Amino acid sequence: MSTKPTAPHATDDDAPLGDVDAERRALLVNATAAFGLAGAACVALPFVSSMNPSRSVKALATLDVNLNDIPLGEAKTFLWQGKPVFVWHRSEDQITEARKGDTTATMDPANDADRVQKAEWLVVMGVCTHLGCVPMRGGEYGGWRCPCHGSQFDDSGRVRQGPAGTNLEIPPYRFLDDATIRIG
Ligand code: FES
Repeated sequence: MSTKPTAPHATDDDAPLGDVDAERRALLVNATAAFGLAGAACVALPFVSSMNPSRSVKALATLDVNLNDIPLGEAKTFLWQGKPVFVWHRSEDQITEARKGDTTATMDPANDADRVQKAEWLVVMGVCTHLGCVPMRGGEYGGWRCPCHGSQFDDSGRVRQGPAGTNLEIPPYRFLDDATIRIG
């Protein structure tokens, strides 16, 4: 009986070595990329989270003012982010005077209505726009006078006499309800 040589049986082991290497390399590259991304996420998350301001920092960033504590016609000073803020509960007469100044406040012209959210509440930074002193109530224009070099601001916080050249700034604020504003 003669034995006939049989044709070799093709298996995966018989695939050309170059193809197998290419497949393995692609698999390794994909796996490495996946681990790399996961690792980057693990490193980045705590970092991003550390960039979020803590609750205490957020609390310092805003200041809630109870408007019921400010009698009609009076202004009170509050500290926000280390700086004074004047909140003035203006009477009808004081609002009328402030609106008259729309035409006479020429150093840094601004309409009173554009400087308030509600006519009876003026909210301005208590920082002189000359060199940063804290102005005091009084002066010739119904608002504040700076004790450092004599600048004067009217009943809308507009500058009326230098050396300051610009109006008292208005901080960011909003009404939470009729009796509360949140500064910041
Ligand atoms: S700092 Fe107010 S006038 Fe100079």
